[in-house]
Amino acid sequence: MAPEKLLELAREAMTRAYAPYSGYKVGAALLCADGTVYGGCNIENAAYGPTNCAERTAIFKAVFDGKRDFTAIAVVGGKDGQITGAFPPCGVCRQVMREFCRDDFLIYIGGAGDDYQALTLAQILPHSFSASEHMT
Ligand code: THU
Repeated sequence: MAPEKLLELAREAMTRAYAPYSGYKVGAALLCADGTVYGGCNIENAAYGPTNCAERTAIFKAVFDGKRDFTAIAVVGGKDGQITGAFPPCGVCRQVMREFCRDDFLIYIGGAGDDYQALTLAQILPHSFSASEHMT
């Protein structure tokens, strides 16, 4: 699937965001190896800590459905849903990606308009900790 299409699905997912506290709406679209796509949005909480990011919502939905082989994720976000620049995945989401994705997993970070950046998991999470490398 073209990155542009996955970014469009991430923008759609962003409209589902529940972000009454920060006002930052975030959307993600996760492409599975079998071609299916899972959307995710951020879901905030009055206690702040339980907030779930858009990327993790998408990944957890997919894992619940039995998917574990992922190709790429597109992420967009911005204040009140206005995308004015890049909204890169937080550190916790990067670590969750590490659990299921290989080094060449692609992250498309959408910007204003049709702008986007394509980075691999190895690029955004170098020297990472993962079960396969450290617990054998
Ligand atoms: N957020 C995401 O959804 N994904 C990220 O990777 C970074 C942060 C959300 C969490 C919170 O609801 C809002 O953005 C502001 O931090």
